[in-house]
Amino acid sequence: MIYFDNAATSFPKPPEVAEAMARFLAEDAANPGRGGHRMAVRAERLLDDVRLKLARLVNGRDPQRLIFTLNCTDALNIAIKGVLDGGPAHVVTTVLEHNSVSRPLQAMADTGRIELTRVGCDADGFVDPDEIRRALRKDTRLVAMTHASNVLGTVQDAGAVGAIVREHGALFLLDAAQSVGVVPIDVEAMNVDLVAFPGHKALLGPTGTGALYVGERCPPPAAGGTGFAPWREGGTGGDSSSPTQPPVLPHFLEGGTPNTVGIAGLGAALDVVAAKGSDAMLAHERRVLETVIARLAADPRFTIYGPHDVARRVGALSIGVAGLDPNDAAAILDDAFGIATRPGLHCAPYCHRAIGSFPAGTLRISPGPFTTDDDVSALLDALDQVAEAGM
Ligand SMILES: Cc1ncc(COP(=O)(O)O)c(C=O)c1O
Repeated sequence: MIYFDNAATSFPKPPEVAEAMARFLAEDAANPGRGGHRMAVRAERLLDDVRLKLARLVNGRDPQRLIFTLNCTDALNIAIKGVLDGGPAHVVTTVLEHNSVSRPLQAMADTGRIELTRVGCDADGFVDPDEIRRALRKDTRLVAMTHASNVLGTVQDAGAVGAIVREHGALFLLDAAQSVGVVPIDVEAMNVDLVAFPGHKALLGPTGTGALYVGERCPPPAAGGTGFAPWREGGTGGDSSSPTQPPVLPHFLEGGTPNTVGIAGLGAALDVVAAKGSDAMLAHERRVLETVIARLAADPRFTIYGPHDVARRVGALSIGVAGLDPNDAAAILDDAFGIATRPGLHCAPYCHRAIGSFPAGTLRISPGPFTTDDDVSALLDALDQVAEAGM
């Protein structure tokens, strides 16, 4: 399989990931913190170690504020439901959001718990920070924005939005699903209060991993509904006598047995990413996109969505093939050429409406750090033949 679906989850995973998971399962797979025995302590140490690495990755000052989650969706839900628990509020978001932001917010708006303003984007897929400024109200509690669109790969000016939101006094939640690991994230410099990200995309870890960093301006943990509310309550491996979730991070937001095996794999993946270098990984993805865009832009059978300038993108490119439904194009690529891409709406219907590709969507091509020149040539040759099917 020639894999161009890294925006969904990266593949292949570095061999170090599977090795670390197998080693952990064989040697240390106790429930961390739940017992004082040596294996439990080793498992707890693994969590501490990876927690610290992830907090450093986003320049979070306090590793105890780094919460392990099951994926980015989990992290976003914990953030959104956690900070919006304290009564009616206004929330600003954008048309670029993935359903893991849009759906919880829309559900809260539909039930009258929040008022929601959805800010648009320009024709290339960029949100103007001044549009966010204009959308802010006195009662705005949260601004939730994606760092990089999973449809277009467009990298948003999160620092400019963060400065505006901070000046206003609201909280800023950044969905870093498509940027973490390749685009620098600094919660201090960018005025980000909450950043949610998966471990299984550009961080190269296994599925079932993700994280949320909870900044110091967020309300303190509170089970009673007046602070940061936990959306999952249960065992924490610590204070079992407390009748409700003990209000101490990270355990307050981490009820239940964590995915220690996955976190062991993520720890190994983070070392691989550090050795490769995020800058080099991003430069590689951009080089691939540049080659693909140069070829397809010169061919009238293809439509390129978003900017042709790859310096404004991470490694995700949406295209259209004249006369072909994206699902059919992807099926031909898969069946006839063994090439994996992703067609449709990519869980981001408002984005597709904004760029004019709703309801059929687009064909998304997303390279990763292991994409080779041969992969790119095979893709371009295959697309040439696929486009014939649309004629
Ligand atoms: C922008 C964006 N946000 C959130 C998510 C959800 O991530 P996960 O699949 O880890 O839940 C994705 C997944 O593709 C995404 O692209």
